[in-house]
Amino acid sequence: MADFSAPRGMRDFYPEDMVLRNRIFDSWRAAAVASGFEAYDSCVVESLELLKRKAGEEIVNQIYAFQDKGGREIALRAEMTPTLARMVAARQGSLRFPIKWFTIAQCFRYERMTRGRKREHYQLNLDIIGEEAVSGEAEVIYTAIAALRKMGVPDSAYRVHLSNRALLSELLLGLKIEEKFHQGAFIALDKKGKIPREEIEQILREEGLTDEACAAAFNLMEIRSLEEAEAIVGPDSPSIRRIRDLFELLDCYGIREQVVFDISVVRGLSYYTGIVFEAFDTQGAFRAIFGGGRYDNLLTTIGGKPTPAVGLGFGDVVIGEIIQALNLPDTRPQPENLFIGYMQEAQRKAATRLAASERAKGKHVTLQLHPQKPKAFFAAAGETATSAVFLGPDDVASGKARVKNMTTREETEIPLV
Ligand code: HAM
Repeated sequence: MADFSAPRGMRDFYPEDMVLRNRIFDSWRAAAVASGFEAYDSCVVESLELLKRKAGEEIVNQIYAFQDKGGREIALRAEMTPTLARMVAARQGSLRFPIKWFTIAQCFRYERMTRGRKREHYQLNLDIIGEEAVSGEAEVIYTAIAALRKMGVPDSAYRVHLSNRALLSELLLGLKIEEKFHQGAFIALDKKGKIPREEIEQILREEGLTDEACAAAFNLMEIRSLEEAEAIVGPDSPSIRRIRDLFELLDCYGIREQVVFDISVVRGLSYYTGIVFEAFDTQGAFRAIFGGGRYDNLLTTIGGKPTPAVGLGFGDVVIGEIIQALNLPDTRPQPENLFIGYMQEAQRKAATRLAASERAKGKHVTLQLHPQKPKAFFAAAGETATSAVFLGPDDVASGKARVKNMTTREETEIPLV
């Protein structure tokens, strides 16, 4: 027999799975809109060339690529950032910067499957393009945290770990490691804790670093505080200043406690140029919840004018696992859901008219589509209904329906229409 299950790593969403997915998506959308981000979208199919050249190194090997019937090399997007850069570059003359855009993008990566990693996931992308002030970083981090709060994730459950590639560059220069090696060093150091040290040293050596430089670069990852870093690069370091300015703004947003300096955050994507950050659950048991940073050169590399940019990607998989593992209750106000059923064919029309008039008032109404026994009706209603009306011949004769509150079990009467 052929196997007709979903391809490995791809997900089906049954209605019960959509409850959690909607909780995540609705919170993303509400937080993005509340912070003034505008929605945009594009197709999941992109030109392979764009994705290969502009995506981070790590992702390039994971791209789902194929030829279309016209022989074009195309691919399923692995992330949204190259597409966003392409879209913005195409309208650079007419857009009014800074722009704040968001999207919920389905992305595909042929990854080794582990907890928190699927071959297909959705990502909230929040990006601010055309703003060099550190307010951009603060605004995207705040908005991601606002989404977590809307989902019912307590502030104590996660921490945003933050660093600055420009600081790492200053530190590497201090070790006499030339700038041309920095890009390679970033990508290698990002792998710390993910692959054995010997393999990272091997990569660094291939990049051209001496054994001594490798060891020194590794030691940088042991820096434990901003003060320790400042003691090396000096108090006038612009990259330290930027981190301090960012922390002051995060304090204004009321989210200072949730963000920590962590030199080991480098990020695996090559286009980041400045502040980089990743959010993790406090226990460190799951993969990154969201990640992002400043990428001031990406537009230039695809033919646009130099434009500062900052943004993040926030996946649905890891946060979904955390919400389930910690059993976090949904704190969003739940809409009323009225169930309407009837005993016999003779009450069908009265039930249908009642459903239409209650829906017109804005209520969510689930109308049963055939006569039922009361037991079957209340069993079905019990799972999701907040209130229920079950019409029998007496109700129709009296012109009134009894609405049962499913929580308090109290009954009130409403006229039939
Ligand atoms: P990223 O760190 O590669 O960044 O992905 C962002 C988030 O997407 C991760 O933190 C994780 O939540 C989720 N994610 C990534 N890959 C998978 C996977 N295979 N399965 C499940 N979830 C996954 C980017 O993609 C950047 N383009 C983000 C960005 C936007 N930077 C600036 N603007």
